[in-house]
Amino acid sequence: MASVVIVGVQWGDEGKGKVVDTLAGQAQIVVRFQGGDNAGHTVYHAGEKHVFHLLPSGILRDHVLNLIGGGVVINPGKLVKEIDGVGISPAELPKRLRISAEAHLILPCHIALDANNENQRGESKIGTTLRGIGPAYADRAARVGVRFADMFNEKLLRARLKVCFEAKRGLFSGPQMEEVCNVDRVAGDILALAGRLQPLLGDTGLILEEGRRARKNILFEGAQGTMLDIGAGTYPYVTSSHTVAGAAGVGAGVGPRFLDKIVGVTKAYVTRVGEGPFPTELTDGIGEKLRADGGEYGATTGRPRRCGWLDLVQLRRAVRLNSLDGLIVTKLDVLDSFDKIGLCVAYLCRGKRLTEWPEDPADAEAVRPEYIFMPGWKNPTGKAQSFAGLPAAARKYLRTIEKEAGVPVVMISAGKEREALIVRKSVF
Ligand code: IMP
Repeated sequence: MASVVIVGVQWGDEGKGKVVDTLAGQAQIVVRFQGGDNAGHTVYHAGEKHVFHLLPSGILRDHVLNLIGGGVVINPGKLVKEIDGVGISPAELPKRLRISAEAHLILPCHIALDANNENQRGESKIGTTLRGIGPAYADRAARVGVRFADMFNEKLLRARLKVCFEAKRGLFSGPQMEEVCNVDRVAGDILALAGRLQPLLGDTGLILEEGRRARKNILFEGAQGTMLDIGAGTYPYVTSSHTVAGAAGVGAGVGPRFLDKIVGVTKAYVTRVGEGPFPTELTDGIGEKLRADGGEYGATTGRPRRCGWLDLVQLRRAVRLNSLDGLIVTKLDVLDSFDKIGLCVAYLCRGKRLTEWPEDPADAEAVRPEYIFMPGWKNPTGKAQSFAGLPAAARKYLRTIEKEAGVPVVMISAGKEREALIVRKSVF
């Protein structure tokens, strides 16, 4: 029995969805603790592709109870659509999915503000997913937000919407204000969904505590990645929640001692979508090959992802920021046809060699990577059933990563399906 946190250690899109879906085979509860439908967790099962934005990635397993914690921001219309997409009967659904009263709602005004803010920033736009994430978290912090439980009390809902919309005066020009800040219209749209969602209301913290007492395996599913954390990430080019493992307890409704193990997911290379520093970005043919071979296009927005070699300086920082016990390396197969593979071991910055992330965040834009190159394996890794079954050069690459990161590589994914996962050490 264990409570295991799974977090992304790069800029998101590390393959957490596949990892959580696979590990959910041995878990009884999966909980999302931050983010919203900006996430796009892709799961391939029985030849079908599923992309989950809000639903935890344990939702395809009928023995798993999935929780959406209070740290998550929810677009209720999107949630209902996603629930419809998985085809679980209304009677069965409350046994498979419960949602915290404390989760905040993403409202139409948040989505409109996300777009307005990006337009106003012009050249320095963040490249958000335009899902209203930042404005929804801003309202939560400003205490003018609307929470999931408010949906089920019309009087309270209207009062909360009124406060929220008052705070938007001056932020929208005339017709847009009327469109997105009309209490009757927005309350009507939310109330139309309330009947479907009310049976899912649950105290996620209490459910987790009871699960632990019943000796269940519990997975905490992070969204986005360490470098998109609102604090530790490449601010302001970040998302608006804490994405590091420290957020798992707070966002799910349990204390820090609840968590037994913390495992980070990293691609065998790096990608980033949206603007902001990315020291190992390759804008040449190698970057293009990584994008093409890895199918590196955003699961939520379809945008092409920026690609580059694995950055060990950034990885070591993520190991420390998350207190990682181990790493899961994904998409190893994408490197199968490269002659040589780069690994960034240090940065060169203003005449100095740095082996840690720059102290001055402004330098993150200026650093140049120093690489070591390792021979490629030029053989398919997708069918390997064990670490020993991988080509020698691939084993060497992974051993170099674990030596540099200072934590073991516990699992390796070299393909899309659940089965394409080599387990060296169980996370539970
Ligand atoms: P937001 O979370 O929509 O506000 O976007 C802020 C930044 O985080 C942008 O650079 C997005 O591209 C990035 N981002 C948000 N969610 C994800 C994700 O799930 N994967 C990768 N990048 C993400």
